[in-house]
Amino acid sequence: MAIAKRAHWDSRTAFVLAAIGSAIGLGNIWRFPYICYKYGGGAFLIPYFVALLTAGIPLLILEFAIGHRMASSAPMSFRKISRKSEWLGWFALLVGFGIVCYYAVIMGWAAKYLVHSFTLAWGVDTKTFFFTKMLNLSGGVFEIGKPQAFLVVALFVCWIWIILSTWKGVKTVGKVVYVTVTLPWLMLIVFVIRGVTLPGAMEGIRYYLTPNFKALADPAVWHAAYSQIFFTLTVGFGVMIAYASFLPRKSDIVNNALLIGLANCTTSYVAGFAVFSTLGYYAHVSGTTVANVMKSGPELAFVTYPTIINHLPLPNLFGIFFFLMLLTLGIDSAFSLTESIVAGVRDKFRWNQKATNITVATLAFAVGILFTTSGGLYWLDILDHFMNNFGLFIVALLEAVFVGYIFGADKLRIYANDLSEISVGRWWDFVIRYFVPLVSLVLLGYSLKERILKPYGGYPRLAEFLGGWLVLLIFLIVSVALSMGKKKEV
Ligand code: TRP
Repeated sequence: MAIAKRAHWDSRTAFVLAAIGSAIGLGNIWRFPYICYKYGGGAFLIPYFVALLTAGIPLLILEFAIGHRMASSAPMSFRKISRKSEWLGWFALLVGFGIVCYYAVIMGWAAKYLVHSFTLAWGVDTKTFFFTKMLNLSGGVFEIGKPQAFLVVALFVCWIWIILSTWKGVKTVGKVVYVTVTLPWLMLIVFVIRGVTLPGAMEGIRYYLTPNFKALADPAVWHAAYSQIFFTLTVGFGVMIAYASFLPRKSDIVNNALLIGLANCTTSYVAGFAVFSTLGYYAHVSGTTVANVMKSGPELAFVTYPTIINHLPLPNLFGIFFFLMLLTLGIDSAFSLTESIVAGVRDKFRWNQKATNITVATLAFAVGILFTTSGGLYWLDILDHFMNNFGLFIVALLEAVFVGYIFGADKLRIYANDLSEISVGRWWDFVIRYFVPLVSLVLLGYSLKERILKPYGGYPRLAEFLGGWLVLLIFLIVSVALSMGKKKEV
């Protein structure tokens, strides 16, 4: 029997760390602090927490429970709910695949900057260094140019690292995460301590957390809170389903979900102190305001931070720490997805673990090469937008509907409660059947409206189509095709 042979985590800690590692990623350090600051400062913690409790944790419970109950990764779990819903499992994995293709490229940048830290090679003009020297960024999305050799090498190294971390599936993952979860946390603590002891730090933190309660009346704030929660917990990518499928039969569900959700969000909150205290310092030394130096995403990590590092005593050391932190934050998110795809393919087609692993990595590496070209950053940006604002919400919506109505929310809740140290009440059924679908629909509708009004990021419509809509369409077709393939029995 397939179930009897299924690999298991070595311990509950291994599973919890792996799930936390998947959730905690670049999003915690370069997305959360910025969003918090932008959408109401300290007041944003309210919608954020509400989103965590009313969508994030309920969906984590759903994914854990369904993965455990079906003892299968996402596609086979959904197939067991209904033959008609299997495609959703593949679609979720493909959306994650889209993300991991560029996520690994970003890790490649971090790897390159880690090496640069030894000599502070980025110099004073960190902006030119990043955009012109390293990315060789072209003038427009259709000026693709050639792949940058060094970035390809860095990407390759990251993929080797991912392959090795998932070599024997969860057996390897369960060991690697002890390092890739604790190490970035230790470095985060170093950055918080370093940050808050710098002049100007308090000014930065004031920017981060001064509450603006009026913001709570703005729907955009709630939109930001819910979309950040989905993304940051890595729900809607089939990862948590696959990870839970490797749990032994007697395993807690509800308490683990709470623990993981809270650990992830605490990390984001703490990361905000590291980011904003150093930004406060930077504003202080350059005689400007925090608002003027605040950036999010790649620009924060690869332009602003290197500049701050230049100003610190022992810059090389802090450079190494910072980029090592980014790498170890990102790696376990990246391999969680790789492992989920491998598990998905294996559960259905019974391929060999190592061969599947190498195939998935090679495919993602090949796609990633596009993002190392001169026009790569534009395509990365478009893909990122479409995966997270459409792909992810589609999965969240349908996942809640399929489980809520076809499998039965009450049935899954009772199953989870029987196993768990703490129980969820009937409110969970309501959340899964009505609330999550409603929120996902609103988020989808909002994203759709935005895209109809104007193309994303001011790119030409054709680029938006090729890098966004077409990708979603291809993913849809491939998922349906894969779901029609015959399941290979052992
Ligand atoms: N949760 C991760 C973060 O906060 C990001 C993430 C979400 C991700 N889904 C993913 C990474 C899929 C790789 C693949 O950074």
